[in-house]
Amino acid sequence: MAAGVRLLGPGRALAQDRDGCTRWAFLSDTHVASNPDHRYNGFLPYRNLREIVGQIAYDLPDGAVITGDLAWKRGESHAYENLKAILAPVTAKRPVYLGLGNHDNRAGFHGTFGGLIQDNLTVPDRHVATAIAGPVRLIVLDSLLVDRASGLLGQSQRAWLKAFLNASDDRPAILFLHHRPKIDLLDTPYLFDIIEPMVKVKAVVYGHSHEFGFSEYKGIHLINLPSTGFSMSGGQPVGWVEARITKSGGEFVLRALAGSRKLDGCRTRLCWRA
Ligand SMILES: [Fe+2]
Repeated sequence: MAAGVRLLGPGRALAQDRDGCTRWAFLSDTHVASNPDHRYNGFLPYRNLREIVGQIAYDLPDGAVITGDLAWKRGESHAYENLKAILAPVTAKRPVYLGLGNHDNRAGFHGTFGGLIQDNLTVPDRHVATAIAGPVRLIVLDSLLVDRASGLLGQSQRAWLKAFLNASDDRPAILFLHHRPKIDLLDTPYLFDIIEPMVKVKAVVYGHSHEFGFSEYKGIHLINLPSTGFSMSGGQPVGWVEARITKSGGEFVLRALAGSRKLDGCRTRLCWRA
C-alpha cells in the first residue's frame, strides 16, 4: 500500500465557523535522522524540530501540516519513529497532516504511521487528505516521485483533485504539497490548468527549497515554507510559519529558530482573490 499523506492526532472535529479565524502551524523539511545527534550544514534537525514542537505545544493551534521531506536521506528506518515521538505533544491533542517529499521512503513511513491512517480519500498509488478548518478547506497532495528529486502529482491525482474541487462548495481552498510549482513540480502546467479557473483555490503551500518566501502565479498565492531542519545558505531562516486564516485572507508569521533570524516575527498578510 502506497503512502503519501497521513493524518495523525485525535481526529477531532475542526471548527466549522466560516466567518471565524483558524490558526495553523505550517512546517516543512524536518529531515529527522535515525541519530538524534545527526548534524548537517551546522544544524541539528532533530533538536530543532523538538524545540519547534515545544513552541507549538505551548500555544496549540487548531492543527499542523508538514509538507514533506520528513526524514533524512531516503527515510532511514528509525527516522519515522523519531519523528512520531517528537510530534507526540502536538498529535496527542491536535490533527497533524504529514506529506512526503523526495527524501522520504513510503515503506518506512507506512511502517511507522500506517496504523494511524484516518483519511479515507484514496487516489491510486497516492494518498491525499482534506479537512475543513473553520473558514477554509485544506487539501494535502502527494508529489513524491520515487527516486527523483523533482515531483509529480500525476494524472490520477490531478483528476481526483479536479473532481473534488468541482464537488466542493466555494469555501477558500489551500493546497499543500512538497515540490515547488514552476520549478520542481513537473506537472505544474496541468495543475494550474485545473486550479487557475477555480477561484475558490487561493494558495499553494510547499517546501523543498529550504527557503522562505511568498510569490504569486496566475492569481494564486505561492507560499514557500522554510525548513525546520537546516538551511542551505546563510541568508535563510530555519523555522516554521504560524498562519491565521480567514475567508478573505491570511496572516503568516515567520517563527525563525536558527539560521538567519532577521525576519523572525515578520508578518505577511495576503488577500484571497475574488
Ligand atoms: Fe528538504
